[in-house]
Amino acid sequence: MNDLDYAFFQRKVLDLTGIDLSSYKSDQMRRRLNALATRSGARNLFEYYRIISRDPAKRQEFRDFVTINVSEFFRIPEKFEYLRQYVLPELLRERRRLNVWSAGCSNGAEPYSLAIILDQLAPTGDWRILATDIDTTILQRARCGVYASCDVRNLDKHTLAKYFVPAGEQVRVIDRIKSRVQFKMHDLLRDEYQRDFDLIVCRHVIIYFTEVAKDCILRKFNDSLRPGGVLFVGGTEMLKRPGDLGYNCLAVSFYVKPRANSSVAASCRGGTISGGDNCGCRLGGPAR
Ligand SMILES: C[S@@+](CC[C@H](N)C(=O)[O-])C[C@H]1O[C@@H](n2cnc3c(N)ncnc32)[C@H](O)[C@@H]1O
Repeated sequence: MNDLDYAFFQRKVLDLTGIDLSSYKSDQMRRRLNALATRSGARNLFEYYRIISRDPAKRQEFRDFVTINVSEFFRIPEKFEYLRQYVLPELLRERRRLNVWSAGCSNGAEPYSLAIILDQLAPTGDWRILATDIDTTILQRARCGVYASCDVRNLDKHTLAKYFVPAGEQVRVIDRIKSRVQFKMHDLLRDEYQRDFDLIVCRHVIIYFTEVAKDCILRKFNDSLRPGGVLFVGGTEMLKRPGDLGYNCLAVSFYVKPRANSSVAASCRGGTISGGDNCGCRLGGPAR
């Protein structure tokens, strides 16, 4: 299939499903889609389009396939440890009410991990987590909060006992934690972004997008953060030129939106949050 044919397929899919394939990395997506089409008995993407336009189950399979939903609790635990030890205590000190957004939250393991840390740091604090994803099926699972034992393998016994209850062969997140997380369908490529977040967590999501789409999302995140707010991305999603997008690098995977009265240079000259793989910027307090 040549580029023009693929562009045609993208347009048809956008009309049919609302998914904008043109913003996802093309080579990777085409390779995966061709494999999926073959598995579905289609000889090319045109035939595959006909299948998904007629068969709702195949259409859902296509959605699930495009929106890779792999997730787990405390994915890359040392990053969550950095969040627990350095980022969240500072944000909690500064803000009476903490607004957190888990964007591309998949099955809910990520926002529930954030809620567990916040419950440990500020059990009675005024904090809430918005958790969004483009995939309504996975959001339904996230709301249920039921997980297989392999999903919770990063959790120690104490955390498991405190924050989960048995649910047959599986475990379910306790209601106190669930009540702190609001799940909502949101397409990072098409929908309006809410504002005034103190922390935006978007991990293992933008890696699937083109450079143009990625930059656009990162700029919108910047608009959505309050000054001093932090963006937390995946290990392979490092920002090449954070300053161009309005961020200072705090540590690997962590970026801060500078306050109005601080320039990137001024903020980077200051002290650092100790611990972790630091890029050298300050989080709290005025710029020096
Ligand atoms: C690999 S999962 C990452 C889950 C979690 N953030 C983590 O790190 O474990 C990627 C998620 O991004 C979601 N996603 C893909 N495209 C999206 C879009 N345009 N808008 C919002 N979410 C999207 C997928 O549905 C999927 O649940």
